[in-house]
Amino acid sequence: MKAIVHVDKNWGIGRGNSLMFRLPADMKFFRQTTTGNTVVIGGNTLRSFPGGLPLKDRLNIVLSKNIEDRQDCIVVRSESQLFDAIKRRAAGEVYVAGGASIYKLLLPYCESVLVTKVDADGGADTFFPDLDADNGFALESCGDDIVTNGFTIRMCVYRNLFPKQI
Ligand SMILES: NC(=O)c1ccc[n+]([C@@H]2O[C@H](COP(=O)([O-])OP(=O)(O)OC[C@H]3O[C@@H](n4cnc5c(N)ncnc54)[C@H](OP(=O)(O)O)[C@@H]3O)[C@@H](O)[C@H]2O)c1
Repeated sequence: MKAIVHVDKNWGIGRGNSLMFRLPADMKFFRQTTTGNTVVIGGNTLRSFPGGLPLKDRLNIVLSKNIEDRQDCIVVRSESQLFDAIKRRAAGEVYVAGGASIYKLLLPYCESVLVTKVDADGGADTFFPDLDADNGFALESCGDDIVTNGFTIRMCVYRNLFPKQI
């Protein structure tokens, strides 16, 4: 299992239950990486998507106590149901795709984290753990700077040195 996220220079991930930037190059990377696989998201992140709809061409597993059962995704109500769904029902690679509460919950179980770093301050109200300050994670690689919609970004990979098994 991997996590995938974009962060601003303060490890911010969102503001007002929305993303802080429009980053076409990162959206393309996210779509290409996750399509045909499984994404695990929280209720707020599902509600933040256009029309409140899950991501298409991917199996969406949503952790929520409030969203009703529906046909277009798997809704799980507790951590134990989530772990069970990941083990039994996931297709392809599993990508933990936010938001903050889901990242926090599943980060210990991710073997790596795909972090797109945005060289800007998005005024976030929601944050990812600072992996540079975490001895359990090591920066493995970073790509070149890319400019997208006026923002400079780079795709990096952090390795979890002590991943837990679900
Ligand atoms: N930068 C990025 O790459 C990225 C990616 C994804 C999201 N985001 C941003 O992250 C922000 C949202 O983060 P967030 O932490 O507020 O929301 P979240 O993690 O998406 O969702 C939180 C919700 O998940 C459900 N939940 C969490 N723990 C649970 C548990 N143990 N049992 C049952 N349900 C549980 C609850 O849903 P219910 O309320 O439905 O019960 C809770 O309100 C937004 O700004 C979004 O745009 C950023």
